[in-house]
Amino acid sequence: MVVEVKNLTKRFADFTAVDNISFSMGKGEIVGFLGPNGAGKTTTIHMLLDLITPSGGEISIFGKDFRKHREEILQQMNFASPYVSLPYRLTVFENLMVFACIYNIEHPKKRIEELLEMFEIADLQDEPAGTLSSGQNTRVGLCKSLLNKPKLLLLDEPTASLDPEISHHVREILLRIREQENTSILYTSHNMAETENICDRIVFLNHGKIIADGTPIEITKAILNEERNEPALEEVFFRVIKDTKTI
Ligand SMILES: Nc1ncnc2c1ncn2[C@@H]1O[C@H](COP(=O)(O)OP(=O)(O)O)[C@@H](O)[C@H]1O
Ligand SMILES: [Mg+2]
Repeated sequence: MVVEVKNLTKRFADFTAVDNISFSMGKGEIVGFLGPNGAGKTTTIHMLLDLITPSGGEISIFGKDFRKHREEILQQMNFASPYVSLPYRLTVFENLMVFACIYNIEHPKKRIEELLEMFEIADLQDEPAGTLSSGQNTRVGLCKSLLNKPKLLLLDEPTASLDPEISHHVREILLRIREQENTSILYTSHNMAETENICDRIVFLNHGKIIADGTPIEITKAILNEERNEPALEEVFFRVIKDTKTI
């Protein structure tokens, strides 16, 4: 397994944001991490990056204890979220060069140019990061997340600020990278159609707990509690919210 999480918990004072969750991810698997706002998705991702310390539980990545092999593991991972902004005075190229140095990338200039081409933002390389639109900033963040050819990629709402055409292009890139490099990808999104389209498996979180784990069609049948031939994650989402409110 690439990721194995056991009984992971995060408490902020007396509030439990992530409540005793266990899940795993296989090599080359794209797992959708779904759930309403406040479900605990970002908190979990931040624990998988060691940005915050768990209150309890265990994380193993690439078969190794994350706490004991932190640096070695983080070298082979990466992360993107449109809510992270880059140092605004540095140009796009300079920003990516800083990360390329941190990750010790060979031939950094070539790798940066390749990624900027891939995301169709080569013309922005000399622009200061502070002048970018949110969609452009998101694409620079995605370039950053692929610099080190990560074996595990954590993407927190990567398409949230992208128009449908660019968002489709990004998903095609991710599928191609998974095909070529067997990258495992944890993916959060509030767009259920795109989640059905790209994810092999869904882990559904609500109030910090995992309420379902399976393929999109398995999740649909389990939560709607009826026979279906096609996944219907949007219906699943509304059902989860409705049931939560009536409890
Ligand atoms: N640093 C923090 N201090 C206190 N509460 C937090 C903190 N970070 C997140 N939370 C709370 O934890 C819950 C889960 O948040 P989050 O993981 O960001 O949800 P999601 O990404 O699923 O929308 C929310 O209720 C949020 O307010
Ligand atoms: Mg979040």
